[in-house]
Amino acid sequence: MEGRALQPTAMRILDFYDRHPISESQVLDAVRRARGDETLTADDLYPFDQDHYGGLGAVDALARRAGITPASRVLDVGAGLGGPARFLASRRGCRVVGVELHPDRAAGMERLTRRVGLRHAVSVVRADATALPFGAARFDACLSQEALLHVADKAAVLAEARRVLLPGGRLAFSDWIAHSGLGDLERARLADWMAAVTLQSLDGYRALLGRAGFRGVEAEDLTDEWRAILRERLAMYRALREDTVRRLGEARYREYDALYAFFVGLVEAGKLGGGRFSATR
Ligand SMILES: C[S@@+](CC[C@H](N)C(=O)[O-])C[C@H]1O[C@@H](n2cnc3c(N)ncnc32)[C@H](O)[C@@H]1O
Repeated sequence: MEGRALQPTAMRILDFYDRHPISESQVLDAVRRARGDETLTADDLYPFDQDHYGGLGAVDALARRAGITPASRVLDVGAGLGGPARFLASRRGCRVVGVELHPDRAAGMERLTRRVGLRHAVSVVRADATALPFGAARFDACLSQEALLHVADKAAVLAEARRVLLPGGRLAFSDWIAHSGLGDLERARLADWMAAVTLQSLDGYRALLGRAGFRGVEAEDLTDEWRAILRERLAMYRALREDTVRRLGEARYREYDALYAFFVGLVEAGKLGGGRFSATR
């Protein structure tokens, strides 16, 4: 990545996460408030460091589909601040490498992981999921949560995931999905506001996975589950108003609130939802 000019899409993703309400400092502040001291374990971070829908249960669901054991070498694509990677390493005893595009998120993942004493099991590489900096057949499992919405060339990510998986290795990921009725203007607004550059449908992902050479493709519609979660997340975002205003200012708080309400409205209207996918290399 170093030295390569960033494409406009990548710039938009970096900008979105620069201003995202979940950050390393907010995670640490929230833990300090909850615990009141400086000693941290990975468990202390879990209520705050999972940037996807469904919390730890969702990570577990992917881990089960990927057949992760203590011997597994796991790749987490779009690892964020590393919450899922640390959870997998500490609960399942596996080793996890996270790939993260955003330099601050990658650095935050590295620092949080060091802080909770998991560096022996979890590492992070700053790279683009469409060009993974690993040799072929290095991993037993590849996971990803709510990251592929940011990638226009999903076929490239799936091809890369397949390349770095061992034969028989498992891919399991979740992502937003578009349902029929999601209009072009709504898609454009999602791209503009939330760096959701392209959205696939459930069948679209099935087809992409097949074309990438994966077998045994399974696709589950999580929309009903996510609808309830999103209502809660909007309420949580509003409950953290003070923090966010202090950190990012009132205007940004309101902008993000409007964006969230628009997004939750699309889910309520059945135009947007979630999917979980698994397949074998
Ligand atoms: C919604 S966050 C999810 C983070 C993490 N998976 C979790 O569940 O906590 C999506 C992450 O994907 C990263 N991302 C977006 N595009 C990427 C790309 N092309 N390559 C690697 N990471 C990417 C973003 O920077 C962001 O940290």
